[in-house]
Order: sequence, then structure tokens, then C-alpha cells
Amino acid sequence: MASKSTVAVLGPGGTGGLLAALLSRSGHRVVCLAQEHTAGTLRRTGIAVRSPQFGEFTAPVEADTELREPVDVCLIAVKHTTLDAALTRVPPAALGDALVVPLLNGVEHPAALRARYRADRVAPAVIRVESTRTAPGVIEHGSPFTEIDLAGDGVPHARLDALAAVLTGAGVTARVVEDETAALWAKMAFLAPFALLTTRYGLPLGEARTRHRAELEDLVAETAAVSRACGAPADPAQALARYDTFPPGTKSSMQRDAEAGRPLELDAIGGALLRAADRHGVPAPVTARLVSELRAAGH
Ligand SMILES: NC(=O)c1ccc[n+]([C@@H]2O[C@H](COP(=O)([O-])OP(=O)(O)OC[C@H]3O[C@@H](n4cnc5c(N)ncnc54)[C@H](OP(=O)(O)O)[C@@H]3O)[C@@H](O)[C@H]2O)c1
Repeated sequence: MASKSTVAVLGPGGTGGLLAALLSRSGHRVVCLAQEHTAGTLRRTGIAVRSPQFGEFTAPVEADTELREPVDVCLIAVKHTTLDAALTRVPPAALGDALVVPLLNGVEHPAALRARYRADRVAPAVIRVESTRTAPGVIEHGSPFTEIDLAGDGVPHARLDALAAVLTGAGVTARVVEDETAALWAKMAFLAPFALLTTRYGLPLGEARTRHRAELEDLVAETAAVSRACGAPADPAQALARYDTFPPGTKSSMQRDAEAGRPLELDAIGGALLRAADRHGVPAPVTARLVSELRAAGH
């Protein structure tokens, strides 16, 4: 990748907006792909970031409603609930040789992207960050870290290394990991029990993990069994211990979406977990019950 890259960002929200601003600040050309009103705002105001890690800054970005030229990388940073609609903004023919890098949580989107784009250019990433879009072009970054694991079965290693270098240069802690399945399932194994339990009971992690301990343990065990059946290592004891290190007030993003009345990524997390369990004949009764209770509650 050239020292100055052109990066498209589909969905300049919490994650995409933060990365777009960081990449622009470090000298890359950034084209945000968004709905018309958001694109117009971004062209006028750029992206303003407030962050304990990066300070306060505003970075200019280009913005359009559709990708119209080849780029080096296209970050996909919409939620699952809007992925299909948003992808119409990235016509396969416009991408050229670009890497397509989804940052979404979940495990099923890479296959959907490989069906639409060049399979050997789809490089799924896992992002660990807490970042919120409070208004178009306004990003509140809450975590003192921003970490990205880049994977991509079949993607040339040099391309992944080059992107990791670009992200690192922008201030992100980025690394290339060998095993895509392990990377995606490691995030899923942590996220699914936490998201399902806190959202189902409307409790922050501290209360959820004490008042519903047995269910949390079951969820962790079920998720680990499914993860292993999918070929990814899993360590339920370590996952449980990790939940206990988080501050009691911690909320999952699914729970925050539920509180705000936004659509949940329930199908991409719980639904995908249950589909994988079914495929491999792994029992997941507690996960199934929580997912169906959340659906019955209108999610
Ligand atoms: N935020 C985090 O801290 C975090 C951490 C780890 C993983 N993740 C994962 O990262 C993914 C993205 O989450 P997020 O929190 O960054 O989401 P988000 O803040 O809701 O941002 C998504 C962006 O997509 C845009 N969008 C929606 N529909 C669109 C369409 N049809 N065309 C173009 N853009 C569209 C929205 O634009 P408008 O602004 O114009 O409405 C919004 O800015 C999710 O899978 C999430 O689970 C997030």
C-alpha cells in the first residue's frame, strides 16, 4: 500500500467515524460513504472526535453516497441490521483491487461479502473499542484503547501487513492474526453471553453476572462448545473470569441499543450462534431461550 492510501469508510458511525478521522489525521485520503444528509454534513464539518486516547480533534473527510472510484481499502462499519442496504453503496465493479474490511461483530457476514466481492480481498477484522456517534460527524470515543485484529483467509499477507501498518500509523493497535475463524469466534464467545444476558434482563454486567450467574455460566459453556465445533479454540473459565474484571456498571452495546429503541444485532449474534449450534448438533438451550425471549419482547 502506498504511503498515502485512499480509504473508503462505509458507515461513518461509532467505529467507522473514529477510524475515518484517525486515518485522515495521519495523512490518508478518506472517503466516507453514507446516506445523503450524513454525507453532506461530513463534507461541511469533517469528523470531530473526543477521546481519552487521542484527545480532541477534527479531521476533514470526503463524503459521498456511493463509491465511484477504486480505493485501496474499503472499511465496512455499518451494523448488521443495515448491512444489505448499505452495501448497495459499494458496487463490486467500483472497488478495483481494494481490500474489503468488515469491522462488524458476528461470524456470518464474511461469507456474504465473499459472495458479493472478490473472495480473496475480503479481510474480516475484529475491533475492540467503545465509540459512539452522537450526531453525524461527531464521535465520542470512550475506551482508552482502540485495537484491531486483521484476518483474511486467502488474502495476500502483504496486503494485510500493509493495512496493519497504515492503522498503526494512525494510532490504532493493529495486528494481523493467522486464523480468521478463531479471531471471529473469540469475539463472539465473549460478546454473545454478555450481550444476551444484559439485554434480556436490562441489567448492567455487575448485577447480571451475580443475579444470573448460573445462566451466564451456561451461556459461556454453550458458546464455547459451538465455537469449538466451528474449529475455534475456546476457554470458558477464562471468559467467565474476564467478565468479572469489568466494572459493574458496564453495559453491552446491544443493551444500549435496546434502551434507545434501536434495532438490535440479535440475529447476527444470537441467531448466528444458534444456526452454528444447529449445524454442528451442539445443544444450546439457554441461548435459544434468551434469544426467543428477546424476540418475544419485540426485538
Ligand atoms: N461502536 C463500538 O464501540 C463497537 C465496538 C466493537 C464492535 N462494534 C461493531 O461494529 C459495527 C458497527 O457499529 P457502530 O457502533 O460503529 O455502528 P453505528 O455507530 O450505528 O454506525 C453505523 C453507521 O452506519 C450508517 N448507516 C446506516 N445505514 C446506512 C446505509 N444504508 N448506508 C450508509 N450508511 C449507513 C449510520 O449512518 P448515519 O449516521 O447517517 O445514520 C451510522 O453512522 C457493529 O457490528 C458493532 O457491533 C462496534
